Amino acid sequence: MPHDKPLIDAFGRVHDSLRISITDRCNIRCFYCMPEHDATFMPKSRLLTYEEIARLARLLIRRGGVRDIRITGGEPLVRRDCHVLIRRLASIDGLDDLSMTTNGILLAEHATRLRDAGLRRLNISLDTLDDATLERIARRRGVDRIVEGIDAAIDAGFDSIKLNSLAIAGISDGQLVDLVRFASDRRVAIRFIEFMPLDADRAWTKDNVLTGDRVLEILRRHFGLIRPIARESPSAPAESFEVRVDGTKTRLGIIRSVTRPFCDDCNRLRLTADGSIRNCLFATSETPLRDALRQGVDDNGLIDLVLESVRDKRAAHGIGESEFASPERPMYSIGG
Ligand code: GTP
Ligand code: 5AD
Ligand code: SF4
Repeated sequence: MPHDKPLIDAFGRVHDSLRISITDRCNIRCFYCMPEHDATFMPKSRLLTYEEIARLARLLIRRGGVRDIRITGGEPLVRRDCHVLIRRLASIDGLDDLSMTTNGILLAEHATRLRDAGLRRLNISLDTLDDATLERIARRRGVDRIVEGIDAAIDAGFDSIKLNSLAIAGISDGQLVDLVRFASDRRVAIRFIEFMPLDADRAWTKDNVLTGDRVLEILRRHFGLIRPIARESPSAPAESFEVRVDGTKTRLGIIRSVTRPFCDDCNRLRLTADGSIRNCLFATSETPLRDALRQGVDDNGLIDLVLESVRDKRAAHGIGESEFASPERPMYSIGG
């Protein structure tokens, strides 16, 4: 069947990118996402099963026009046998791209299996190469394990690997140069991401954001010319640049979610681990699908629920506006 239910919102934005969170659990505790203690997690019975996820994915690809899927968490690799889900999704006709965002801690043991199962691209979080700084950020040490994970992923031969670094004022300033050097040595791209108000502790303030402008300024001072290049796609969140590190061209991305929102070009839809559709990272309401799924809803009923959510999508997240409110769910429970 052609896409008889295209996921188009009231502003004409076509939603062909689905981000699926498969767990809200995580093996570290980054302050920009999780609380240090007493994080509450979804009980297992409320998580969508792999069968349920695959049914929804198939439906949204075949009839809604979804073209790419990104698996997120919490930390997706803490969910058991996640390569089984990858294999299932990779086999769906009409899916152009299948990727994952991970913190890298468990990647060394999973990389080859994920690649063999059909995962194409990986984005790996790396905020620092210094263990003491990682402890400040993630309340855990383990830079070695993350680096082992990155190297295992490089060896596994993914189509693309990008490093994601949260840029936090007062913490990241001194890390940027080493991170870019590391990415350059490994011949992978690195993106710096502005800190958004999605932390469980609700401690975010504008002053904690190391802005994209500031990141570029620090890097320019060190590496010299930073050349803007074309975005990967019109809806890609990152502005792309190229920087030379000891003669090696290195791809650099800046994700200015706060200082230069890209909502006008948004093509994203999210499915939470407990089965709700969210039309925006910052949505303040969502559309639960799990109970309908378990009560035997047919495909038409299901896609109509998703379409309803898409049609309700707001124009933009509104960070910085007086009526802005952070979503009830913090990042780990929405999915990155
Ligand atoms: P590709 O472009 O396909 O590589 O993926 P991506 O950059 O969309 O994926 P990734 O999960 O690596 O996202 C990078 C960062 O972009 C996230 O950590 C968020 O900080 C930010 N981000 C992702 N999705 C959204 C979104 O819908 N809205 C906003 N404002 N920021 C987002
Ligand atoms: N603001 C911006 N990005 C965030 N991430 C987690 N919390 C935040 C936040 N508050 C990013 C991580 C990782 C992905 C899972 O989400 O850096 O790349
Ligand atoms: Fe875990 Fe990612 Fe949240 Fe950090 S940002 S606590 S790695 S889910």
